[in-house]
Amino acid sequence: MGSDERERDDGDRNEDTTALTTALTTALTGTGTTSPVAALQKQAPISTSAAAASSSPPRSKTGSPTGSTSPHGDAHGGAGIEPASGLEPEDEDEFDITEGYDTRTSASTSATSSVFAHTYEYGRRYHAYKNSRYPIPNDDAELSREDMKHSMLLELTDGELFYAPIGDNPQSILDIGTGTGIWAIDVGDRFPGARVRGIDISPTQPVWVPPNVDFLVDDCQRDWLSRDVDLAHFRFMASVLKDLPNVLVHAYNALRPGGWVEFQELCGEPYCDDGTMPDNDPVKYMYELADQAFRRFGMDVLAPKKLEPVLQAAGFENIQCIVKKVPIGVWARDKTMRLIGMYQKMAVVEVMPAIAGRPFTDGLGMSQMETQVTMAHARKALDDGNVHRYFNYYFWFAQKPMRQPPPSSSTTS
Ligand SMILES: C[S@@+](CC[C@H](N)C(=O)[O-])C[C@H]1O[C@@H](n2cnc3c(N)ncnc32)[C@H](O)[C@@H]1O
Repeated sequence: MGSDERERDDGDRNEDTTALTTALTTALTGTGTTSPVAALQKQAPISTSAAAASSSPPRSKTGSPTGSTSPHGDAHGGAGIEPASGLEPEDEDEFDITEGYDTRTSASTSATSSVFAHTYEYGRRYHAYKNSRYPIPNDDAELSREDMKHSMLLELTDGELFYAPIGDNPQSILDIGTGTGIWAIDVGDRFPGARVRGIDISPTQPVWVPPNVDFLVDDCQRDWLSRDVDLAHFRFMASVLKDLPNVLVHAYNALRPGGWVEFQELCGEPYCDDGTMPDNDPVKYMYELADQAFRRFGMDVLAPKKLEPVLQAAGFENIQCIVKKVPIGVWARDKTMRLIGMYQKMAVVEVMPAIAGRPFTDGLGMSQMETQVTMAHARKALDDGNVHRYFNYYFWFAQKPMRQPPPSSSTTS
């Protein structure tokens, strides 16, 4: 590069830095004449109309009526969340997954070294198994966020790890896309008589596990080896899997007759029941962009509310759904909901750098300035406790029929 080019390059970079600083200052101080979203829409060649959020979430039509079964009652779902007068939660969850466990080598350690490979982009670590382009990092920051969400869900469900009625003596449980393995370890602890296997494309599980738990590095979109399974559990996976109908065929084949599949899912669109979230809300806008970005990777952040026909098509029956509202931030009156809201807000803030990388930059082609300004507006908006945003969490569970359908007559001669 010649000195003229270098100077020009430096000049461009200085202009970019100045513009970025100005945009971020505007975002953080609220100064400027244009609304943040309008300003961004001018900058970014991205349509936001495709994923416009609905203000009235859908309700399940089959199984038990949609609503909370939590002992916390309506505060955890169904009806609206009552806003608080501004008190902060005091409790913190404690979680020690190694407490009382023997150390042993998990099944995944027998895999070849290639499955443990990682790749690095945007200052983050990603798994490299089969060159998958799963766009979320698997580094410590993301794993801590996943563990925090586990604590949040235990608060939300009042300690229930799943809702499917599999009885007290399950023999075999699968956790598909197990992440840090924290759910599988908890389930293994609670059902010492069951074999619990966590499967993930990322080798991010611990070796300190209860003796009845193991982990396998594999792609769940390929054939499953397991059979006679009592429960196939998926959490935060419906939005992630590119070919959910195919994965459900594998789940169906792996389950014993009468076995259950369960999904515990966040639907990635913020709602508001009391008009405090404006149409141009920066958090809502960020999730609309995320919807578009993840679609470029074959993923659907709104899949969680659309699982019923997919489960039906895979042959499942007794399809049931529980929908729980989760506040984003500490605006709820109920103390537990404030704690849950604090977790949820942290989960949103901490996922921002992850979606700024592959999803926004690779998926949508947004510049560093566009992503940073979008995130800065959203972060600032999240601090406003007067805006009562919430997410819907969907807990779907469905059963493989006890009796298999009779073979079709064309196969008998
Ligand atoms: C959002 S995390 C959920 C983690 C875990 N279920 C939990 O709730 O803590 C999604 C996980 O799915 C894994 N994953 C994505 N695609 C997968 C696939 N095709 N097969 C197996 N795991 C997959 C990712 O590596 C990641 O650990």
